[in-house]
Amino acid sequence: MTVSYGAGTAIDGVSFDVARGEFVTFIGPNGAGKTTLLNSLMGVLQQNSGSVTFNGEELKALRPEARVARGIVIVPERRELFPGLSVEDHLRLGAFLLRGRGRAAMTAALERIYELLPKLGERRRQLAGTLSGGEQQMVAVGRALMAEPQLLMLDEPSTGLAPRVTEEIFEAIDRLKADGMTGILVEQNAHLALSVADRGFVLEVGSVVAFGPAQELRNDPRVLAAYIGGGDRYRDTGASGI
Ligand SMILES: Nc1ncnc2c1ncn2[C@@H]1O[C@H](COP(=O)(O)OP(=O)(O)O)[C@@H](O)[C@H]1O
Ligand SMILES: [Mg+2]
Repeated sequence: MTVSYGAGTAIDGVSFDVARGEFVTFIGPNGAGKTTLLNSLMGVLQQNSGSVTFNGEELKALRPEARVARGIVIVPERRELFPGLSVEDHLRLGAFLLRGRGRAAMTAALERIYELLPKLGERRRQLAGTLSGGEQQMVAVGRALMAEPQLLMLDEPSTGLAPRVTEEIFEAIDRLKADGMTGILVEQNAHLALSVADRGFVLEVGSVVAFGPAQELRNDPRVLAAYIGGGDRYRDTGASGI
């Protein structure tokens, strides 16, 4: 796909596939086009050209809600929580596909989330506006999972979080992956992202400049050159290079 904002091309002919049960990651610095890529897959942004198929279906004409109904769900970069709503309110809001399936289905879905992210269970009545950044990120992940995704897209879940909290989030991602979830993770934190993903793509100013199995990318000189001594946010997360 190619995606532009007016005259500026943010995604320039990026092509890739994700197999069922696979987690891929797009790593790249601020401004590389990571959010644009996910928002285009979600249908929040219109692509200029190209094609996106999901389970064999062309998505181009589908609005974001229709894509959610097909199982494509995003944890957005800005988390987009409602400060005055509780943790559990957010989870219920995410249960797009459970509407009409009754109280028991909702309760079971909530319990699954609380099992994966126990902190959310402890704080189920707490208002989102009073949570720490890490807890808010967990709410965003939990809300996305309530939509029963077939493809979970995560936009920089580590952003602004302390290393210990980031680790908790990534442990949850690991468990989801072990349970067979398919995912696309975008991150500035290459070390973290490549530690959880099966395959990786390095995105620079809208183009893929390197890709391969995550283990190989971690030792790729181009990745090392781009990321060692990277941005402040990278150091903040406690990652010690690749
Ligand atoms: N709404 C927008 N209008 C114009 N340009 C944008 C907009 N959003 C992002 N861009 C530009 O597109 C490029 C990619 O941005 P983005 O997808 O947010 O990158 P990343 O998520 O990797 O930081 C950047 O050059 C950015 O300035
Ligand atoms: Mg972004």
